[in-house]
Amino acid sequence: MGGNIVLVGFMGAGKSSVGRILARRLGRCLVETDDMITSKEGRSIPEIFASDGEAHFRAAEDEALALLALKSGDVIATGGGFPCREGRPDALEALGTVVWLSGDFDTLYCRALRGGERPMLAGRTRDDVLALYRAREPYYGRAAVTVDTMSLTPDQVAASIIRTLGARERDLAVGDGARPPVPVSSEPVAE
Ligand code: S3P
Repeated sequence: MGGNIVLVGFMGAGKSSVGRILARRLGRCLVETDDMITSKEGRSIPEIFASDGEAHFRAAEDEALALLALKSGDVIATGGGFPCREGRPDALEALGTVVWLSGDFDTLYCRALRGGERPMLAGRTRDDVLALYRAREPYYGRAAVTVDTMSLTPDQVAASIIRTLGARERDLAVGDGARPPVPVSSEPVAE
């Protein structure tokens, strides 16, 4: 198992949009941890938070994480808080290559505010959310690859990930003296 591409990052980083493009370009399946949770629970994330609170949602993330161990060769888009708990960075690393979609806080915050209902923003000031972001940065920073998403379109972010992962695979193959693995990109990338 493994060989997945795992996208992590704060709310507003574009994990879902980039994940969709990446999966399409690479001919892989997209798995979204938030979708796994909403399908299992039969209700939306705001409903889960409103009825049962954040602790229940985080426990549902643990269940989703256990199921992710069955995935291989997929693109996995995680929720913004998914990697940010004890043991989760190691668990994600075991699934494949973890890619942090990074960016400056205010841009991510504005995007997150614009992009639909997000329970982690409700009732929090900008400073509260900044504190959350700062507390999460070290977890995101455990990713093998970081892509700065500022001033890039989701298409360009996906292209950058494909290039970077392709280069990593070539480096690893040279380092191992082994045959190069199946290439990450099987089609020319238009930007
Ligand atoms: C969360 C982010 C959300 C979703 C949930 C909790 C968080 O995903 O998982 O509302 O704790 O940051 P997005 O990052 O896709 O908004």
